[in-house]
Amino acid sequence: MKAVTWQGKRDVRVETVEDPALREPTDAIIRVTTTAICGSDLHLYEVMGPFLEQGDILGHEPIGVVEEVGPQVGNLEPGDRVVIPFQIACGSCAMCDVDLQTQCETTQVREHGMGAALYGYTKLYGQVPGAQAEYLRAPHADYNPIRIPKGPPEERFLYLSDVLPTAWQGVQYADIPPEGSVAGVGLGPIGEMAARVARHLGARTVIGIDLVDERLARAGTFGVSTLDLREHDDITGAVKDLTDGLGPHSVIDAVGMEAHGSPVGALAQKVAGVLPDAVSTAIMENAGIDRLNALYLAIDLVRRGGTISLSGVYGGQANPLPMLTMFDKQIQLRMGQANVKRWVDDIMPLVEADDDPLGLEGFATHQIPLDDAAHGYDIFQKKQDGAIKVLLKP
Ligand SMILES: NC(=O)c1ccc[n+]([C@@H]2O[C@H](COP(=O)([O-])OP(=O)(O)OC[C@H]3O[C@@H](n4cnc5c(N)ncnc54)[C@H](O)[C@@H]3O)[C@@H](O)[C@H]2O)c1
Ligand SMILES: [Zn+2]
Ligand SMILES: [Zn+2]
Repeated sequence: MKAVTWQGKRDVRVETVEDPALREPTDAIIRVTTTAICGSDLHLYEVMGPFLEQGDILGHEPIGVVEEVGPQVGNLEPGDRVVIPFQIACGSCAMCDVDLQTQCETTQVREHGMGAALYGYTKLYGQVPGAQAEYLRAPHADYNPIRIPKGPPEERFLYLSDVLPTAWQGVQYADIPPEGSVAGVGLGPIGEMAARVARHLGARTVIGIDLVDERLARAGTFGVSTLDLREHDDITGAVKDLTDGLGPHSVIDAVGMEAHGSPVGALAQKVAGVLPDAVSTAIMENAGIDRLNALYLAIDLVRRGGTISLSGVYGGQANPLPMLTMFDKQIQLRMGQANVKRWVDDIMPLVEADDDPLGLEGFATHQIPLDDAAHGYDIFQKKQDGAIKVLLKP
């Protein structure tokens, strides 16, 4: 089959690889019909090289059709339409029982001290072949796949794999009081969807901050007060002006470790990218490669006593944080990979609603053949050609 493989920094290629096959009785094989590129893939593309091997298959946002099921998958049959969550969970351990699927006790990658295995996401997360491919082996298919009806457009359901539950959890963790205010840092797919969800759930003031024209423009079309980082020397002051002088009740960081604008961080990333693997792995794990601008901004923006919700992925282990300020402002901080199945039942009515309240149809800016994946990564990373969400068609 054809699959998007990682070859090196900013180098992904579509290659012919072996077809996946059933290995466990709880596996299923999915024929992927649409699969998306995520901001999380950009971390692999840019800085996480030390944790990847040449040829690793990327991707974790697939929708498709069940091709084959193992003998213990009683809930699916060939021909079913399914969307697959980006994490692999067992559905029956102590963590899954309390809806913390990203902490699954069964699929945890203990060798690296990490949580549940993820598709196409480095050795740290189990080196599971990813979903930017014609076919996917889905482990624990007796639990993870989300069955969807035949008929409605795929774009309605595709985002259940990641974008929707991530945005939803980001908003839930932000703990916005009724009629309250929230500022989203970053208006990529996650930040923009979180802003849509926050508005839908009744936040009175939704502010979005970014530095890419079309991302700001699009968020502005559905009631988000946008602020262009490039135009404000005092962004915190600008946000206070919109929130009674106090700052927002909640801030969602939907940027993570590739924030623009920190020369020190940029340097650390560049260094990690050119060093031999063993050394750069140590640097990334111990010294931290994160560019913390977005988090620092969130800490500065949030109202005293307010909540910061981190959806953006951070990866370093030794990042300096302004503890004096965080403690003194009495900031609540919540974070983590989204527990997809935790939120599906809450989100599904919006996904299926006739009027498409979250605007899922048309959310993607690009739908291109899987063969053009390298181009897709390039424009998504460089934010060229209006790329906000890129879908690949195997
Ligand atoms: N928690 C989860 O389960 C989960 C799931 C999916 C994605 N993510 C993470 O969410 C983040 C966003 O993903 P995405 O798909 O929206 O990707 P993205 O890279 O397109 O979004 C990031 C956005 O932040 C903007 N930005 C960069 N620096 C900024 C700054 N200093 N201030 C304000 N905005 C800034 C960029 O212009 C971009 O629009 C990534 O870190 C990704 O890894 C987390
Ligand atoms: Zn994703
Ligand atoms: Zn589990």
